[in-house]
Amino acid sequence: MSEIVLFKHLIDPEVRNIENYIKLGGYEGLKKAFTMQPDDIIEEVKRSNLRGRGGAGFPTGLKWSFMPKGEGQKYFVCNADEGEPGTFKDRYIMSENPHQLIEGMVIGGYAMGATVGYIYIRGEFEFVAKILQKAIDEAYEKGFLGKNILNSGFDFDLYVHLGAGAYVCGEETGLINSLEGKPGQPRLKPPFPAQYGVFGKPTTVNNVETIACVPDIIKKGADWFLSIGPEKNNGTKIYAVSGHVNNPGVFELPMGTPLREIIYEHAGGIVGGKKLKAVIPGGSSAPVLGPEHLDIPMDFDSLKKVGSMLGSGAIIVMSEDTCMVEAFTRLAKFYAHESCGQCTPCREGTAWLYKILKRIEDREGKKGDIDLILDICGKIMGRTICPLGDAAVMCIKPAVERFRDEFEYHIEHKKCMVENKIPIF
Ligand SMILES: Cc1cc2nc3c(=O)[nH]c(=O)nc-3n(C[C@H](O)[C@H](O)[C@H](O)COP(=O)(O)O)c2cc1C
Ligand code: SF4
Repeated sequence: MSEIVLFKHLIDPEVRNIENYIKLGGYEGLKKAFTMQPDDIIEEVKRSNLRGRGGAGFPTGLKWSFMPKGEGQKYFVCNADEGEPGTFKDRYIMSENPHQLIEGMVIGGYAMGATVGYIYIRGEFEFVAKILQKAIDEAYEKGFLGKNILNSGFDFDLYVHLGAGAYVCGEETGLINSLEGKPGQPRLKPPFPAQYGVFGKPTTVNNVETIACVPDIIKKGADWFLSIGPEKNNGTKIYAVSGHVNNPGVFELPMGTPLREIIYEHAGGIVGGKKLKAVIPGGSSAPVLGPEHLDIPMDFDSLKKVGSMLGSGAIIVMSEDTCMVEAFTRLAKFYAHESCGQCTPCREGTAWLYKILKRIEDREGKKGDIDLILDICGKIMGRTICPLGDAAVMCIKPAVERFRDEFEYHIEHKKCMVENKIPIF
């Protein structure tokens, strides 16, 4: 069995209880952090090569170093919005091992001089928010949160904030606006959150999984973290596997585990012994791959090399029984629905993409529709305030290019080329 860093409930199913978490060495990382200087903690996180698990793989220590030094209110925000189709990993950390996230939040707060933390959690995760709140209450009682934590002189308060249910609120500046009680519309950057974040104050936003890696990095040291996974892609990774597999679920494995092993060993292979047709390797915004990519190591750099991305590590498996027109029309509907409407290319473009794909799916596609889709994609990419517009393009464009024959068949023959298709979304 590979190293367990985040899914400690696999060692003790009751680890969400603070006493059990402590028995497994919980809050030792925090105790050690208080023996270190804040800047040394940031250096240790930098040295560990921890990269953000929220989608972009940005180096966490470097992000923390962007926070201004000295006095003044600063905030540390945990992004627990988890709204991307296929992604369902953070909820397990929060519901099964919540203290690891809380411990990571306090360490991060101490390192960056932030005395207030928020966990911005997707509104639909009300039951998870209750578990988190109970764990936070326990941490206050034990003196791991609040004033003068463990006699360190450091104060840190942590709040759970339920989101209002939009994918775009997972984009860090949309999240910040939503946290402030405003519509969750992303902000133009710069200024970046480290300069102007929550209530105009310096803020760092990190993903749940990223923050939950921190306690063990501090407790065991950066070298231990560097010993897991390929160079520059270190640590374990939670892969959330869904779609046409026998054993869908979440699996904590070393970063860089081959896609084939994840699908065929951990997720039990493809339903009915069918052939693999396509796989989205990192949440719906990651460009779709084909069976020829099965031996790819599932890490940031390897997926980038083949034109896709690790994103959130959510793997959506599609068997030969999938109609790609149907699958990607459904995703186009999602992006059109979730566009916040601020930028014309995203607002209009995502709606057009859905409209054209829907008519192809409904056997009413016209000659030239495929080129029109690709043209619209080109006019969205890179022309928007936040990456949601780009994400829609990265989802749709590679699918239309890779499976062009299926889209053309729908248009020419007014029917689907897949017999007995099985829906994916
Ligand atoms: C439309 C959109 C939705 C996003 N949703 C999430 C999300 O649910 N969770 C998350 O951690 N990051 C999400 N992100 C990425 C965040 O903007 C941000 O980069 C991330 O929280 C940074 O954390 P990390 O450095 O730990 O990866 C989203 C980005 C976009 C553009
Ligand atoms: S890209 Fe789309 S979601 Fe992002 S700010 Fe513009 S309109 Fe809103």
